[in-house]
Amino acid sequence: MNGNKHTPLRSTHWFGLQDKDGFIHRSWMKNQGFPPNLFDGRPVIGICNTWSELTPCNAHFRMIADRVKRGVYEAGGFPLEFPVMSLGETNLRPTAMLFRNLVSMDVEESIRGNPVDGVVLLCGCDKTTPSLMMGAASCDLPALVVSGGAMLNGNFRGQAIGSGTSVWTMSEDVRAGKMSFAEFTEAEACMSRSAGHCMTMGTASTMACMVEALGMGLPQNATIPAVDSRRYALAHQAGRRIVEMVRDDVKMSRILTRKAFENAIKVNAAVGGSTNLVLHLLALAGRVGVRLELDDFDRLGHNLPLLVDLMPSGRFLMEDFYYAGGVPAVVRELGDEIHRDALTVNGQTMGENTAGAPCWNREVIRERAKPIRERAGIAVLRGNLAPGGAVIKPSAATPRLLKHRGRAVVFRDIEDFKQRVDDPALPVDENSVMVMQGAGPQGYPGMPEVGNMPLPKKLLQRGITDVVRISDARMSGTAYGTVVLHVTPESSAGGPLALVRDGDEIELDTEGRKLELRVSEEELSRRRKAWTPPPPLASGGYQKLYIEHVLQADKGVDLDFLVGCRGAGIPRESH
Ligand code: FES
Repeated sequence: MNGNKHTPLRSTHWFGLQDKDGFIHRSWMKNQGFPPNLFDGRPVIGICNTWSELTPCNAHFRMIADRVKRGVYEAGGFPLEFPVMSLGETNLRPTAMLFRNLVSMDVEESIRGNPVDGVVLLCGCDKTTPSLMMGAASCDLPALVVSGGAMLNGNFRGQAIGSGTSVWTMSEDVRAGKMSFAEFTEAEACMSRSAGHCMTMGTASTMACMVEALGMGLPQNATIPAVDSRRYALAHQAGRRIVEMVRDDVKMSRILTRKAFENAIKVNAAVGGSTNLVLHLLALAGRVGVRLELDDFDRLGHNLPLLVDLMPSGRFLMEDFYYAGGVPAVVRELGDEIHRDALTVNGQTMGENTAGAPCWNREVIRERAKPIRERAGIAVLRGNLAPGGAVIKPSAATPRLLKHRGRAVVFRDIEDFKQRVDDPALPVDENSVMVMQGAGPQGYPGMPEVGNMPLPKKLLQRGITDVVRISDARMSGTAYGTVVLHVTPESSAGGPLALVRDGDEIELDTEGRKLELRVSEEELSRRRKAWTPPPPLASGGYQKLYIEHVLQADKGVDLDFLVGCRGAGIPRESH
């Protein structure tokens, strides 16, 4: 029974049946050695696991699942672990983002089709967090996220190195002749020293912080390192808590309110989080029916200061962030900016969870009055080059380039870029604006993280470390630079980005929120008439479904038919 004591739990529609169907549901489960008392009507807790050896960031998740189970049993529940497709950012091609929505379907149907009353979502590597939350949100059962935690700090020859961020820096050093390839290879194991996800404020860390800011995880869920014993204690506590949530009928929609999303956007600004968050929060809000717009990210977040000094915007790493106080200390520092009455999964409000949260290191988490940078949240740009919007992360950009006019150097796709970027004859200098087409949701497909195009060798050799780059792609949360992303509509859908030619003047004005192509309307209209859409990239399979139904970046890149909550009604019997 749940909180109102009159409605039987949904699992009793399987395990509580006193007929042939009940026999079938119970008997086959008993082949795993579960004793009869576990089928007595107690809450059945699904543990949605993204463990996979192909997803190195989540490779320790069986141990975490085991600790969640201990907590579930302790609270009188019946834990049942189930796998879903796991998205490993570093191995999966053409990009893990292509499969975020597919996994959300896997999660949604796995929950709805099974005897599950509540679910613990085990999330780590970038897309595993939004995909699991989106799928669960479309069912709206009680749910709680346990993040896997970040790797220990990277350390190479006595220096801190960060996942992703230092890869971009070191690979440019190799191309500029400042680092040998042997040294570069040696750094591989020095960077990835333990179980866990990227330890910079990349997308995985950003999403873990968002889980906490949304109220979907227990306090400190975001920052405890993967190998810290307290990560396992938190998993144990999460197991206990989800059973109570089922008994109290605390559905996901009670946590994921408009206030929760506003809190997440604000915390993201203060921690210097990834631009990928924009797409994931828009898609998640769409699943729970919360009205969230692209411009909300600018309106709510842009004027907030950067308080957390983590790579790629700053110097430190996730381990340091945890020791300094983690997300609760940041929330406390944000004061009245935060909706303190927003409910969280532990049954307390955000304000109750963070009141008195200490900060132990003011280098890592700054005071509100002494930020690392003022107005550091994601800015949304518009103009004739991005009528549907584009985003830039000012905290990771070169300040003097945030207002810039330059001539376009255009690459029609990533292959064209790779072929020509180091050509000594490429007409590029420090004032150029590098433009890439064909990397949007439909065009690639899947909107890969190629927006932070590496700089041409001839600029690196002159000591130039940043130029303005514009594309319809995404960028790794670990990356940095003056990079305009998510240009909407994308070029493959006929957006103005497709009409840019070498030598066109482009104006970026971040403070004025402008992204303009300085080409006459007559000329653009002539180019538009001559433009032909690229040939279809997939003749069948999931990719065809994706290309035909994917929404643009300003709508979160969900599939149109997945938007919304379909609930967790009891499906018809299977036999
Ligand atoms: Fe998995 Fe960065 S590659 S979190």
